[in-house]
Amino acid sequence: MKNKIAALTLAAMTAATVSAQKTFVLDASKPTKGADVASTMYGIFFEDINYAADGGLYAEMVKNRSFEFPQALQGWESFGKVEVRTDGAPFERNPHYVRLSPVGHAHKRTGIQNEGFFGVTVQQGAEYRFSVWARAIDGQSKITVELVDPANMGETQVIGSADIEISGNEWKKYTATINADGSVQKGKLRIFLYGATVDLEHVSLFPANTWKGRENGLRADLAQALTDLHPGVFRFPGGCIVEGTDLESRYQWKNSVGPVENRPLNENRWHYTFPHRFFPDYYQSYGLGFFEYFLLSEDMGAEPLPILSVGLACQFQNETESAHVAASREALDPYIQDCLDLIEFANGATTTQWGKLRAEMGHAEPFNLKYIGVGNEQWDALYPERLKYFVEAIRKAHPEIKIVGSSGPDSEGKQFDYLWPEMKKLGADLVDEHFYRPETWFLSQGNRYDNYDRKGPKVFAGEYACHGAGKKWNHFHASLLEAAFMTGLERNADVVRMATYAPLFAHVEGWQWRPDMIWYDNSRSVKTASYYVQQLFGHNKGTNVVSLTQDGKAIAGNEGQDGLFASAVYDAQDGTYIVKVANTSDNAQDVTVQFKGLKKKQGLKGYTVTTLHADSPVAENTLDAPATVVPVVDKKDAAGQALSVNVAAQTFYVFRISVE
Ligand code: AHR
Repeated sequence: MKNKIAALTLAAMTAATVSAQKTFVLDASKPTKGADVASTMYGIFFEDINYAADGGLYAEMVKNRSFEFPQALQGWESFGKVEVRTDGAPFERNPHYVRLSPVGHAHKRTGIQNEGFFGVTVQQGAEYRFSVWARAIDGQSKITVELVDPANMGETQVIGSADIEISGNEWKKYTATINADGSVQKGKLRIFLYGATVDLEHVSLFPANTWKGRENGLRADLAQALTDLHPGVFRFPGGCIVEGTDLESRYQWKNSVGPVENRPLNENRWHYTFPHRFFPDYYQSYGLGFFEYFLLSEDMGAEPLPILSVGLACQFQNETESAHVAASREALDPYIQDCLDLIEFANGATTTQWGKLRAEMGHAEPFNLKYIGVGNEQWDALYPERLKYFVEAIRKAHPEIKIVGSSGPDSEGKQFDYLWPEMKKLGADLVDEHFYRPETWFLSQGNRYDNYDRKGPKVFAGEYACHGAGKKWNHFHASLLEAAFMTGLERNADVVRMATYAPLFAHVEGWQWRPDMIWYDNSRSVKTASYYVQQLFGHNKGTNVVSLTQDGKAIAGNEGQDGLFASAVYDAQDGTYIVKVANTSDNAQDVTVQFKGLKKKQGLKGYTVTTLHADSPVAENTLDAPATVVPVVDKKDAAGQALSVNVAAQTFYVFRISVE
């Protein structure tokens, strides 16, 4: 790989004009006095878009497990005598269940089978946990549960099964472990009735190998990929789904906690937002809910950042005020109470109503919530006139909690210019900025934060990604420009305290929006080049910003800088300096980083250099070729007080430099 980079560098140098030598000055005189880089600086934005939750991170394999989709048997096929009923269900918020009755002939069958999310995908040798709530109307019956491969050309379709005796006419939970002796991508979960009439509800199947082996667990590979980013903050549950298409379909966190069987279904706006990418079976089971989000934050060592509704349904979808809660304190009360109760759920004593529920769910210790966001992409006076009541109430009850407001959906312009001063007036601690923008925008924003007001709210770059003009999919060049832009975030870490790329996840068979950071099918996942950029910043965030300039100016792709973007931090934990350089030009360039302020006897000891490069700007990682664009690490010697390197065209570098 080393040779590959050397060859690329040489190729770039010979193919294009070599630019003039650049000298960067790194001020090493008082590294720990530089602005601190927040622990929350690089994080994760999670939204249930592109089948990110059900069918994605949430490891449940059964779609419509509680028969609550508006078409009660969507995702299911039934055969024989099957009836959907609502009388006497065990879970009040999920009233539907199915009754399976014998068809009256020994050779005829009754049962149901589920198609899963893009198939029930089973791996040979793996173990699966099946569970169902059931009752036998006449006191005794039996079901057989099977993992089947309908297209199997062998003697049997069955690749795993379990028999379950149902006894008693009271609802009870039954469980079985199924071992798979075959693999299938587009399999099904089949249930046969072998006995008298039974009622079934909340039919569930999980791989035993979930993240940390938890029962209501997450897909291990996806949770691991998130953890490997070393995220400092975890924002959830969105995005637009916070707002809802209408207020009824907004994300309601209280519906997402407590026993999973009794969490009601919610619409998912991404089911129908884009008619050209329509997914009629996309709902939110809330199986991955706020408790699970808090737990995952804790697992990853990231600060949880929940975003709640401000009483405005999605403004893109609702132009009239009637879709929104009136801007009075009384009308907003339940929404404000949701915020206060959430803080209690996360942090309250176990004697409080919501703290008690947290403890009952298995986490008596507080989650130590420090931030809350109110409103997603809101705009006009509709937003601040509502937000003010939230700010008042949260400040009064919880002065320790930092509040995140929004600057609307655009990176600049009318709403942005209106909302920022409004957020200042309201005293928001952080302001969420969103930018899904093309290459030209990313190349022009290197100095974006250099002149931001240092006394006002801090910045949360809450959703961003380079959307290539005509190339709106994940590819290397977009990630390089994200890296270039992020050097500007880092240089301004005193004002930018959080940044989260978005969206996070996408199922290859179920996406509505791209680019996204991590893609997957039911059994594999792939990290994009943008993932690696985020990871390189997350792993190399350092502790303090140090000044890095060229001719006294920030290095942000300006005139005389030939497409170079760079920033530097010091890491007080191991005493290294970390210099990040994105060369967005088509020329290789000679760069000398001059260390100013070292003692006479001090010198550079050596460095590691991590390089992210691709042979083609449109190169991408795919499920079949996941390592097309990956970081390459090399170790080098160094001496003296300057580091001279040749940076290849269209390449991102992270230098981690040790000083004697
Ligand atoms: O990330 C996808 C969407 O982009 C989010 O839901 C929304 O906040 C933004 O418009």
